[in-house]
Amino acid sequence: MLVDTFGRTATDLRVSLTDRCNLRCTYCMPPEGLDWLPKPELLTDDEVVRLVRLGVEELGITEVRYTGGEPLLRRGIADIVRRTAELTPQPQVSLTTNGIGLDRLAAPLADAGLDRVNVSLDTLDREVFKRLAHRDRLDDVLKGLAAAAGAGLTPVKINAVLMRGINDHEAVDLLRFCLEHGYRLRFIEQMPLDAQHGWTRDNMITADEILALLGEAFELTPEGAEERGSAPAESFHVDGGPATVGVIGSVTRPFCGACDRVRLTADGQIRNCLFATEESNLRDAMRAGASDDELADRWRKAVWAKRAGHGIDDPSFLQPARPMSAIGG
Ligand code: GTP
Ligand code: 5AD
Ligand code: SF4
Repeated sequence: MLVDTFGRTATDLRVSLTDRCNLRCTYCMPPEGLDWLPKPELLTDDEVVRLVRLGVEELGITEVRYTGGEPLLRRGIADIVRRTAELTPQPQVSLTTNGIGLDRLAAPLADAGLDRVNVSLDTLDREVFKRLAHRDRLDDVLKGLAAAAGAGLTPVKINAVLMRGINDHEAVDLLRFCLEHGYRLRFIEQMPLDAQHGWTRDNMITADEILALLGEAFELTPEGAEERGSAPAESFHVDGGPATVGVIGSVTRPFCGACDRVRLTADGQIRNCLFATEESNLRDAMRAGASDDELADRWRKAVWAKRAGHGIDDPSFLQPARPMSAIGG
């Protein structure tokens, strides 16, 4: 088991498969991209699977989510998913993606044992998409979404980050679109994890603001606090129906106290929090010949040292050196 000094247990492993991406969303990356990790520093497919296996078989991991950067850019993804889904006890296997390439990959990934996908979609307007993501790929994302639903990778969840003056006029349209297609939409408060360090509290659209925007067109009824558990989203029923919309208020309504997550970066570092200031290098230990027991021991120690929360409100808060794309979303 992976426990920390606050009594939390990490059961949800989030594995970044690459720091690269084919979009450049402004809340994440500058238009010119970043200095990508050199290939030899990345875990190989076998190394990823070895650590995931260790997590599942020895350390109590029950859910494995592959992220990036953009995880579909990783060539071996279907094979990695297949080998993950074959583990005993079988973990839930999911993917967080920008959707580009899902039109081609949704069916093979479902066949490999992928359970479900979360897809980022911040706008339905092609021009806004180009401004926000610096690429003209909205149609590819929409095709990917349809393919995911068609392949049974459900519930398909949509992540939308609203940005002031860019896409905050689209909250209602996004929800209408998701209700129509049966996608489960979650609006996300932007966190200070952009590579450019441009985040400010004033620019962030808060959970309260999101709910006010939606409240102009829909009647929202809270699903009930007891159902949130360690889930990041607070859920609301829309217009009294069964469909829900979520709000992930990581900054103003943090869920750190119930956090059950631990991360493995594409270069093999264990991070006990998105906002961790330290990492534990399993890659080098593994390459120096560490046994499974030694790796498990390092991993336990890394989780034990997890802090109470992200500390964004502390005067001494420092944004992590790595941006979201290099940590894993
Ligand atoms: P499910 O609800 O299980 O489908 O997954 P998820 O919502 O955890 O996954 P996803 O990768 O789609 O992440 C959605 C958003 O949750 C991210 O954009 C983040 O804003 C937020 N998030 C994910 N992990 C963390 C975390 O460890 N800490 C905090 N504070 N926020 C997180
Ligand atoms: N704050 C909040 N969410 C972010 N994402 C990327 N960068 C940030 C940020 N700075 C979201 C993406 C994606 C998920 C993995 O994280 O929209 O859906
Ligand atoms: Fe790519 Fe995701 Fe970052 Fe957008 S948020 S640039 S899709 S890694």
